[in-house]
Amino acid sequence: MTKIKAENIKKTFKIRTNGNSRNNGNSSNELLALGGVNLAINKGEFISIVGPSGCGKSTFLDLVGGLSKPNEGNIYIDGKPVEGPGLDRGIVFQQYALFPWRTALENVEFGLESQNIPKNERRGTAQKYLTLVGLNSFEDRYPYELSGGMKQRVAIARALAFDPDILLMDEPFGALDAQTREILQRELLHIWEETHKTILFITHSIDEAVFLSDKVAIMTARPGVIKKMEDIPIARNDRFEDDIRSSQDFVKSRYKLWELLKEEVVRAQQISGNAVSNFSKWETAK
Ligand SMILES: Nc1ncnc2c1ncn2[C@@H]1O[C@H](COP(=O)(O)OP(=O)(O)OP(=O)(O)O)[C@@H](O)[C@H]1O
Ligand SMILES: [Mg+2]
Repeated sequence: MTKIKAENIKKTFKIRTNGNSRNNGNSSNELLALGGVNLAINKGEFISIVGPSGCGKSTFLDLVGGLSKPNEGNIYIDGKPVEGPGLDRGIVFQQYALFPWRTALENVEFGLESQNIPKNERRGTAQKYLTLVGLNSFEDRYPYELSGGMKQRVAIARALAFDPDILLMDEPFGALDAQTREILQRELLHIWEETHKTILFITHSIDEAVFLSDKVAIMTARPGVIKKMEDIPIARNDRFEDDIRSSQDFVKSRYKLWELLKEEVVRAQQISGNAVSNFSKWETAK
């Protein structure tokens, strides 16, 4: 059953020119970030998007989250058009977005406050999710007292606490050291198995995408479209084996994805010097 459907999503941003723009004589002051994204995600699936920096991944996630609107196209959740944010979607942002004046527990409680849940019940639920991410003894700490990995766990617990059907995660582990990252990846897989959520996950790491996902979507250089969706043929249970990353299926998937991604990374580098350049212009200049 299709849970999230994106149909021909286009998104344009206005660019400030300040009279000294780098638009190289192009009179346009708009930037086409997404050039027609089509994507379907089934209920309970874990899908990752990988693509070069600036290709529109966060832009797309914000649209699914209802935080902004597309210029063209529609996004549907359970067949209904997205018209704004909702409690059916929990978002974990690219930067830890915790409230510095709230403790870990109060941060997790935040999503429950708009639901008229009595304070005691709210507290109990928040404690349950802090325990799920391994932070039960840190509930009274403020964000400045937590490590980067802990802050990200609090952000994940906050997104899970109001029990959304969908988790939207924008490079949640991007700023973490390698060991913490692997630990959190495994925890996320456990959480996903326990909760059966539909997860849309953005990452720069092909390795992370292969480890976590049922399918990986490759996004092109800006304007972003989905270039290819690859199935990851690794059984769920096998992912917890110690040597899974050196298995043949893992290595093959990683290689295939990198082959698809690398020309987009080169394209992104070529267009990045020109703020209003677009993919087709780069193509003709090639
Ligand atoms: N509010 C905005 N106003 C103007 N341009 C924007 C805005 N938000 C994003 N952009 C531009 O849209 C493009 C896509 O940005 P986006 O943040 O979606 O990229 P991304 O794929 O998430 O990159 P990264 O991997 O570096 O996080 C970029 O060129 C960016 O400069
Ligand atoms: Mg981003």
